[in-house]
Formats: sequence, structure tokens, C-alpha cells
Amino acid sequence: MKRTDYCGRIDRRFLDQTVTLMGWVHRRRDHGGVIFIDLRDREGLVQIVCDPDRAETFAIAETLRNEFCVAVTGHVRPRPEGTVNTNLVSGEIEVLAHGIEILNTSLTPPFQLDDENLSETVRLEHRVLDLRRLPMQKNLMLRYRTAMAARRYLDAHGFIDIETPMLYKSTPEGAREFLVPSRIHHGQFYALPQSPQLFKQMLMMAGFDRYYQIVKCFRDEDLRADRQPEFTQIDIETSFLGELEIRELMEGLVHAMFKDALDVDLPSPFPVMTYAEAMARYGSDKPDLRVALELTELTDVMKTVDFKVFRAAADLPNGRVAALRLPGGATLSRKEIDDYTAFVKIYGAGGLAYIKVNDAAKASEEGLQSPIVKFLPEPVLREILVRTGAQGGDLVFFGADREKVVNGALGALRAKVGHERGLAQPGWKPLWVVDFPMFEYDDERKSWAARHHPFTAPKDGHEDRFSTDPGNAIAKAYDVVLNGWEMGGGSVRIHRPELQQKVFAALGISPADQQKKFGFLLNALQFGAPPHGGIAFGLDRIVTMMCGADSIRDVIAFPKTQRGQDLLIDAPTPVTEEQLRDLHIRVRPSDSVKVA
Ligand code: AMO
Ligand code: AMP
Repeated sequence: MKRTDYCGRIDRRFLDQTVTLMGWVHRRRDHGGVIFIDLRDREGLVQIVCDPDRAETFAIAETLRNEFCVAVTGHVRPRPEGTVNTNLVSGEIEVLAHGIEILNTSLTPPFQLDDENLSETVRLEHRVLDLRRLPMQKNLMLRYRTAMAARRYLDAHGFIDIETPMLYKSTPEGAREFLVPSRIHHGQFYALPQSPQLFKQMLMMAGFDRYYQIVKCFRDEDLRADRQPEFTQIDIETSFLGELEIRELMEGLVHAMFKDALDVDLPSPFPVMTYAEAMARYGSDKPDLRVALELTELTDVMKTVDFKVFRAAADLPNGRVAALRLPGGATLSRKEIDDYTAFVKIYGAGGLAYIKVNDAAKASEEGLQSPIVKFLPEPVLREILVRTGAQGGDLVFFGADREKVVNGALGALRAKVGHERGLAQPGWKPLWVVDFPMFEYDDERKSWAARHHPFTAPKDGHEDRFSTDPGNAIAKAYDVVLNGWEMGGGSVRIHRPELQQKVFAALGISPADQQKKFGFLLNALQFGAPPHGGIAFGLDRIVTMMCGADSIRDVIAFPKTQRGQDLLIDAPTPVTEEQLRDLHIRVRPSDSVKVA
């Protein structure tokens, strides 16, 4: 038999035609003499009808079980009235089977493919069967269409796809790396690239002008729903464009991906917000703008009060006291408030003070209900009501701590309560977050670290701040944020060696180390490096958003678990003593390490 089309595409247009379809038995139903088979392929389902009049075909149909792989030839006819299924493309028709060939039998699958409550462990262990499920087929198809949309857009704009090495060099500035031992060079290691950042910059220096690559990147980080140890970037770099021009070109790419893959017209242009504004208003550099709630600044007010929790935070050099007004929140129960308190503690908050507003006209214990009202003077209470705009029936939460803790806690709380309490709009809310700081202070290492990466250019004139006020040096860096997720980030790069050295120095990298780690870059910068910049988008994250999936694992064919394992192929595994010997490696003994 020769296939004529996909199951999921057979509709009214095929009425009265003979078709040959190949796919898997999704379900077989015996209906008093007639057997119905839902036949499935990557495009969807079609109903096959087997009539006892055709004895040979019927006999085969009786032996079919779920997930048998079969070929069916039959006649397309309308479904009887009352049996039309409007959820299926093929829902108005059915195929009366003339012939069935079993291409392969199947063991009984360990789960029903349309079971919606499968544990992820079971799914990942049986990933081949899991991927047969139509939602997974749709997700990966959407991923393909998104990548193709990106390729078409970038190709049309003169970007060329150039491959860069996967065996890179260890540069321990960013996330933790995966190391690859060299057999030939005793005791030496490659590292898998966290991104092709320096290669793409060197391609600009080499004169290729516009580069892109849809490329795997590797980071040995703690994993979360939006992070994998290997993930895919749409990685882009261009020469001779400034920040605004790059952003405009890249916004076009995001529009093209959503239009082509999902037929969604994203708002245009994307709103642009500085990092400082995003932190002040939303406590986050990736605010979910579907949620209408905002933080209210109270640090200045709390410098005057005696209430220790607020005053101590307000007096810290990097302290913040902020409020989050929750409209209608006065109905929250004690238990709900306790749960939110436990939630903010994950972000390091010491507690979650709150005031229930019964009557906004009475800024005292009369109109306000809270354990902390008695500690705050009336003018302060009034100022809280005015600034937050709180009305009777509202609740106001407070965060008081170091700025970083308050922003983390209230920023996350804002998104959580917003979604839980129906205060989020549906749809797509993209934005650019710009003007990131160049550096952030690393409390553990007690030194300044690059906020984006050390190759990002400062705003004009801001290099003067490196030595005097590094925390206030702003970078030509930008992120694309969508519905609370960072989808992409990039920057204008440094293209002069002196400035690059200055940034390395600000990061505490000695001239000798600069040469050892980045000599190749400093050298290339000396030969007429063009001004350049770019961005990288997280393809997995973009597609996860598009699918409305909970985790990026649902848009990756063979993902790792939260513990970095592949449950299908069983990786990682120990290796033989011989392999280790070849690599000049000895595994340190420890209870948890085995050698095969
Ligand atoms: P950055 O580190 O911001 O920039 O990464 C770019 C985008 O990649 C995605 N991403 C991830 N996705 C899944 N799992 C991960 N562990 C993960 N880490 C990052 C995010 C992020 O926005 N070289 C620079 C880009 C540049 O400057 O051009 C870079 O890698 O969506
Ligand atoms: P305490 O004085 O510790 O009993 O706290 C009084 C109120 O302030 C309680 O409602 C706490 O949840 C709250 N609280 C304590 N620490 C903080 C903090 N860092 N930020 C906001 N609220 C807090």
C-alpha cells in the first residue's frame, strides 16, 4: 500500500474518494458488529469503520490493539447525522475500510495516550510513547514553525547561518560550565559553550556583517521550569547598527515568529521601560504586564516612623520599604495571608505585614485593620492610603528589607496574587527592558560581576563611573520580556580594546588573566573591529509561551529532569576504568560516585 495523505487532514474535500492512511491505533471500539478505529498520525485522528460484510478486513480489525502501526485503505463517506465531531478536522467524515495491513504490533502501552494526568516521570521514562501524544506532536511542530519563521526573517534581512565550535574553552565568568576532558592533552579540558558570544563577535570582526545560528547552549545551573542544562538560542549579531536599530530589527523578528507560527499579531511597537522603572514599579526586570498591580514606594515615609521592621529597612543604604495594594483583598482569610507570607519567605523576606482597609476615610485603627496599625502614626497611614490609592475593601501588603529582597518578594507576590485573584488580563504583553546596570555586586565573591556579560558596552560616558560609582554605570543592554518571562537578551558590544580592558579591570580580572582567558578577543579587537551588537532569544522559552505549556520540558523532544537526568536513555552514567584512564582522569571516591 502507498499512503495518499495524513489521517488528520482527511475532511469533506475527500468525500467519495479512496484513501490510504498509515498511523497508529489510538483506540478501537466494538459497537455490536461494527468496529471503529481512531487512527492517529502526526496531523491528527480519523475514524475508520470496519464492517463485518468485509470479512477479511473485519477479522484483522478484531485483532488490532492500541498503538499497533497499521495501513488502511478505504472509502471516505459522511458520518451519519448526530455523530459529527466538530473538534476534529476529520470530524464530518469517516473512512469505510476496504483493507487493513498490520505494519507492526505493539505491546500494551504503560499508559493511555490521552490520559491528561500522567506523572512527568512516567512520561519521560517512556518519552517515545509520550511524544506520540497529539499535544506533544503539536508542541514540536510549533517549535519547528517558529524556528523556520526565524530563519526566513533573518535570511530575508541578510543574516547568514554560521556554525561555531561546541568544544570551547573554560571561561568561568558566567554560569557553571560542563567540562570535556581532552584525551590528547593530558589534564586539559574543553568547556561546552554557554553561548557562542565571543565567536559571534569575532565573526563580526571577521567581516561577516550579519550572523545568526539556532544553537545549543550549555549551562550547569540549578534547573527550574524555565531552565534546562542544554537549551537552544536563536543567536544573532550584526555590525554597524546602534542599540535602537538593533532593537527595531529584533522586534520585527519576534513579530514574524508569532505571526507565522501562531497567527498572533503582537502589540506594536513594544513598550520600552528602563530597568530602574521596572524594578520600582514591578520589583522585577521581567514584569508580567498582564497583571495590573504595581508596587508603591514608601522608603522615604518610613524613615520617620518608630516601627522597627519598617524603619530599619528604610535606613539601610540599599534598603526599601514598598507596598502592594490588592483591590478587594480585605476578603483574604487568615490562612490565605499566612500562605502568602510563607511564599514571600522563599524570597528571603522576614515577613509580610499587611493592612486591611475597611474605611479609607479613617486612617486609624478605626478604619484600618492590622497588627501594625498601632505602630504607625496617622499621617503615615494617610500617606500609605494616598500613595497606594487603597479603597475600602482593599488590602495593602508591605515589604521591608534590602532592596533586592523586597523586589524579589513583592515582585513575585504581585504576579502570584494577580493571577490567583483574577487581576490578570488575557493575551500577550511584550516589552523591552533597557538600561540595565553594567555591574552587580556579588555578595559571596565580594566583588563586582557583569550583569549581562563582560563584553557589553556602557552608555556613552558611563565608563567614567567604573571606578567611582560602578553600581550606577548603565549598559547598552536590553531584554525582551513577554508575560513575565525573559525571552531574549542582548547588548551593544565593546569594540575597542582599551574599553574592554577597562571592563575586565572593573571586574577584578588582572591583566595577566585577561591575556590568558581573553587574549584572543583583545587581540582581534586591535585589528579594526567594527561597532557591533546583537541578541539571543531562548527558543525553548518562546515556544513554551506560545503553547501555554507549564515547563520548557514540554517543547523539547528529549529534555532533562530537574536533576539533570535523561530518564529515557538513562544519562548520566558511570564510565569504565579504561575510558577514564584514556582521559587521564581518576574519580574521587565518594559514597555517591560509582565507576562501571
Ligand atoms: P542570555 O544569557 O541572556 O544571553 O541568554 C539568552 C536567552 O537564552 C534563554 N536562556 C535559557 N533558556 C533555557 N534554559 C536556560 N538555562 C537558559 N538560559 C538562558 C533566555 C535568555 O533570554 N550571549 C548572550 C546573548 C547576547 O548578548 O547576544 C546570552 O547568552 O531566554
Ligand atoms: P514582628 O514585629 O516580627 O512581629 O512583625 C510584625 C509584622 O510585620 C508581621 O505581620 C510580619 O509578618 C511583618 N514583617 C516582619 N518582617 C517583615 C519584613 N521584612 N517585611 C515586611 N513585613 C514584615
